Amino acid sequence: MSDVSRSSPAGIRTAAVIPAAGRGVRLGPGAPKALRALNGTPMLIHAVHAMAASRAVSLVVVVAPPGGAAEVKSLLDAHALPERTDFLVVPGGDSRQESVKLGLDALPPDYDIVLVHDAARPLVPVDTVDAVIEAVRGGAVAVVPALPLADTVKQVEPAATPGEPEPVVATLERALLRAVQTPQGFDRATLIRAHETVTDNVTDDASMVEQLGLTVVVVPGHEEAFKVTRPLDLVLAEAVLARRRLNDGF
Ligand code: C5P
Repeated sequence: MSDVSRSSPAGIRTAAVIPAAGRGVRLGPGAPKALRALNGTPMLIHAVHAMAASRAVSLVVVVAPPGGAAEVKSLLDAHALPERTDFLVVPGGDSRQESVKLGLDALPPDYDIVLVHDAARPLVPVDTVDAVIEAVRGGAVAVVPALPLADTVKQVEPAATPGEPEPVVATLERALLRAVQTPQGFDRATLIRAHETVTDNVTDDASMVEQLGLTVVVVPGHEEAFKVTRPLDLVLAEAVLARRRLNDGF
């Protein structure tokens, strides 16, 4: 058992911001991705509960799809969180970055550690969440969970037309690469500074901290923290939930 699950040092409080305002077009037509059901429960609710499973997390800020804040609030009311965990719902923006920033703006002052977790990673195990928090408590300003790659990765000259053959530019050294997941954990002041300073379009928050010239560290991720992006991922996610139910009556 990690230190995080045993104790919560006095004065150090951790909040999780969950950007959930994406449309999820790669998943096909339908409701915003975060509101798609996994075994009858919206993906977002799984993701919120995954954060609240950590005893260190006392607030979850959900950044809702445009026009969906009231629906998200009533969903959260209907799926009770542990008593130790509060939640807030704020409307999202046009980009993931903007949505995270809106979530950060809503954070009360007394939180020193912030996790940013994609609603699209509903099944991250609590041990991964705790490992990220523990590394921030240990002094890292930014922490990402990540896994080694199974596939070889090649850099290409992207084709103008999708499906056309693409020339390979380079083969990257697989042993040096990691596939990064969430929750990513941050010293709050550092993350806020990164969001105020970096204006480039990025695909994760840690890369904004890298752009400040600060060190981001990697802790082991988990295969169940995969991102639900394409229709097959929904099948995999439901299979993981079915296995959990068999194993521990989840
Ligand atoms: O598009 P992608 O899968 O990278 O989105 C990652 C997360 O960011 C998702 O949980 C999605 O809901 C969220 N997002 C957001 N606001 C946007 C776009 C994406 O909160 N405008």
